[in-house]
Amino acid sequence: MKVLVVGGAGYIGSVTVEQLLEHDHEVIVLDNLCRGHKEAVSIKAKFVQGDMGNVDDLNAIFGAEKIDAVMHFGALSLVGQSVEQPALYFKNNVTNGITLLDTMLAHGVKKFVFSSTAAVYGEPHSSPITEDFPLVPTSPYGDSKLAFEKILKWYANAYGLMYAALRYFNVAGATETAGEEHDPETHLIPIVLQVARGERSHVTIFGDDYPTADGTGIRDYIHVKDLADAHLRAVEALKHPGQSSVYNLGSGTGFSVNQIIEAALKVTGKPIPTKIGPRRAGDPSTLVASSQKIQEELGWKPQFGSLDTIIGDAWNWHQKNPKGYHREQAHV
Ligand code: UFG
Repeated sequence: MKVLVVGGAGYIGSVTVEQLLEHDHEVIVLDNLCRGHKEAVSIKAKFVQGDMGNVDDLNAIFGAEKIDAVMHFGALSLVGQSVEQPALYFKNNVTNGITLLDTMLAHGVKKFVFSSTAAVYGEPHSSPITEDFPLVPTSPYGDSKLAFEKILKWYANAYGLMYAALRYFNVAGATETAGEEHDPETHLIPIVLQVARGERSHVTIFGDDYPTADGTGIRDYIHVKDLADAHLRAVEALKHPGQSSVYNLGSGTGFSVNQIIEAALKVTGKPIPTKIGPRRAGDPSTLVASSQKIQEELGWKPQFGSLDTIIGDAWNWHQKNPKGYHREQAHV
């Protein structure tokens, strides 16, 4: 297949590009580099710097290449920032996403894999979460992803779009060549590893009064390589006009913030000082996925689900790339 990967210079996109290439797909990456890193894109992929909200950029690609499918990783994804700047999130994640959909359909391209999120569930009533849980996002970010899922549903109904929406839980880990580098970094595992490397003085634990065994928040961590594998399975399963599928993607086990820090201590052998801070606004107490549906329907199974592997791979990447892709200054 010839696959257009929008946002392919980002963390999850770049790992998926690697796997697509390993499976002999042809890859074109479109990324505006507002968050991604050109260095993260395999040289075996064709790279185009441009914007999914720009019809000219899109027409140039769809006009020149016979694209079979589009994978869309090009959204903004910081919950806190979305609360401050909802306009930015709805413009990028919804309006620009519609431009991408309309343009691909105008060129006869109908297969689409979408990066959705566990944030569409808001604060769930119980655990683990299945795909039929109520969809009540608590942030503009989650709402923008849910809005786009609804658009996909109606586009499939009216225009024969075939899509898979993958609701990611907490993605972590790295490959030999691609890893997680955000600026600013807000995610727990990279922050913990920055502390282990001495780039930050401590990890602030956002609340130790949650109704969990140790009082800290529980999340379901999935290895980025397992997530990328799900994208390949999802795109290959798109065969019938109007086909639509929605899948949760997690490892099915929850780990608390304290457990992550303990595991990182073990993996790195370095001190990881912590401080207890207040809860972070909008953080649910526990988010754990049931990924039963994708396991049954697409034969997906996490291969790298152990916490030691996830943290160990992230640690190796950070050790090999102490400045990330092009970071000049250490975070303090
Ligand atoms: N946490 C800390 N200290 C930190 C950073 C995080 O205690 O410095 C805690 C959070 O409170 C949470 C857990 O660590 O309990 C994980 O937090 P992350 O920021 O790593 O991830 P989130 O669960 O907040 O968010 C991630 C994605 C979102 C997505 C969400 C869905 O970043 O895009 O998962 O589950 F919406």
